[in-house]
Amino acid sequence: MKFFLDTANVAEIREAMSMGMVDGITTNPTLIAKEEREFREIIEDICAIVDGPISAEVIRTDADGMIQEARELAGIHENIVVKIPMLVDGLKAVRQLTAEGIKTNVTLIFSALQALMAAKAGATFVSPFVGRLDDLSQDGLVLVEQIVEIYSNYAFDTEIIVASVRNPLHVLDSALMGADIATIPFGVLKKLAAHPMTDKGLKAFLDDWDKAKK
Ligand code: G3P
Repeated sequence: MKFFLDTANVAEIREAMSMGMVDGITTNPTLIAKEEREFREIIEDICAIVDGPISAEVIRTDADGMIQEARELAGIHENIVVKIPMLVDGLKAVRQLTAEGIKTNVTLIFSALQALMAAKAGATFVSPFVGRLDDLSQDGLVLVEQIVEIYSNYAFDTEIIVASVRNPLHVLDSALMGADIATIPFGVLKKLAAHPMTDKGLKAFLDDWDKAKK
């Protein structure tokens, strides 16, 4: 399973890179806005740090406008993947961008049929938002399971990025289902490595070692 980091914060990215656990980055307009910096500068900084897919989202919602923005974003760096919202105009844009060789990540996916259409349009990645479905008392991981099955049934090349990850279980269950990628907030990434029994066991080892040396 590939781990992408779901952030536009360069300090978080550097820290996660030092862990050797970053295969790519996803951003969105909200994450960009939090940094209070120029959009293009943030994306350029991230491209200089991470050698993997970097998702940057368009703002326009009309097909022509999305295509124009996507071309500009793709021109920043070869690793740029353009995030396109799951709209009919988004599908039109994805078809055109795919024909031009520009990679796309269809985002704000909340149904398996949306994911099916995005794959048919040629999307490089799709981003089902599991946490936001959970927030509505719907099981977001059921969506992931459905997409994995549909993509397997028809041998789509589109890769599934499990997004809106809220906790380690989202990552675990997505991996058990065979999702390609999880895009993980930095706080959740740090939790994946931790277990209280590991800490307890290590302390006991070191205490016993110290006792034996006395
Ligand atoms: O960046 C895409 C997605 O992971 C954001 O989800 O629910 O944390 O805003 P959320």
